[in-house]
Amino acid sequence: MKLIDGRAVAEEIKSSLKIELFELTQNNQRIPTLAAILVGDNPASKAYVNNKVKTCKEIGFNSLLVKLPSDISEADLLKEVERLNNNAEVDGFIVQLPLPKHIDEVKVTLAIDPKKDVDGFHPINFGRMAQGLPCYLPATPYGITLLLKRYNIETAGKHVVVVGRSNIVGTPISILLSRKTEVGDATVTLAHSRTKNLHEITLQADILIAAIGIPGFITEDMVKEGAVVVDVGINRVEDDENTGKSKLVGDVDFDGIKNKSSYITPVPGGVGPMTVMGLIMNTLKAAKKEIYP
Ligand code: GUN
Repeated sequence: MKLIDGRAVAEEIKSSLKIELFELTQNNQRIPTLAAILVGDNPASKAYVNNKVKTCKEIGFNSLLVKLPSDISEADLLKEVERLNNNAEVDGFIVQLPLPKHIDEVKVTLAIDPKKDVDGFHPINFGRMAQGLPCYLPATPYGITLLLKRYNIETAGKHVVVVGRSNIVGTPISILLSRKTEVGDATVTLAHSRTKNLHEITLQADILIAAIGIPGFITEDMVKEGAVVVDVGINRVEDDENTGKSKLVGDVDFDGIKNKSSYITPVPGGVGPMTVMGLIMNTLKAAKKEIYP
């Protein structure tokens, strides 16, 4: 088994981004700026957003964190989105999900200017991705493709099984890997909660991508010998070895599967750090007006 080290690959990308940033500033171009809207105080969302801001700082990008109370009205949140759409200093921005129940996430996503939608969640970017047109790729699927590329994992002609059909991960990664692109040309099966005989399907996977959000859902008996296993899950559970403490685990039973797989991503330290890099790479593309000249 080889471990896919997302932290190490993210560090490599950070180093190359620092060089690219230096070149930009040498050419008198503006420093890329990412903004994030955080509504309420969901601890996981806070941690993710803080990590995005921290990574911007490490590389030398500017960042702007807009913190809003959990009881903000939908109309007021839409005004904040509009403000960032019109702020010429901001190259790209995200609205951290999930949002409080009284706010319609679809409405908010649709309000983001697709040119600044560095999460790639707007249907314009999603549709462009599905048709292979220039777009901001959603950060996690983008990060997964970067990892597969970095480890020279062949996808062409392989059977990829994706478990989970979210708009953020499962659906877009299944589309991306089936496209005729460098990290693509795969035969993809998208499995989900209503899939029958899931074991039979996952056992056929050359590359298995778990994005269902259930701790330890993928067990050893579901994995083919020598498969590549990509674990997208980030679940906080009680730590049996440390009473009263919690720990992060993925959707994959890592210890049960590690010796059966050829490559496997750990949690934490696998896909997670690459999601942030996907977002940062999109922000650079936004600043350089690469996608929408
Ligand atoms: N919530 C969980 N993942 C993400 C993400 O990638 N972007 C945003 N905006 N919210 C999320």
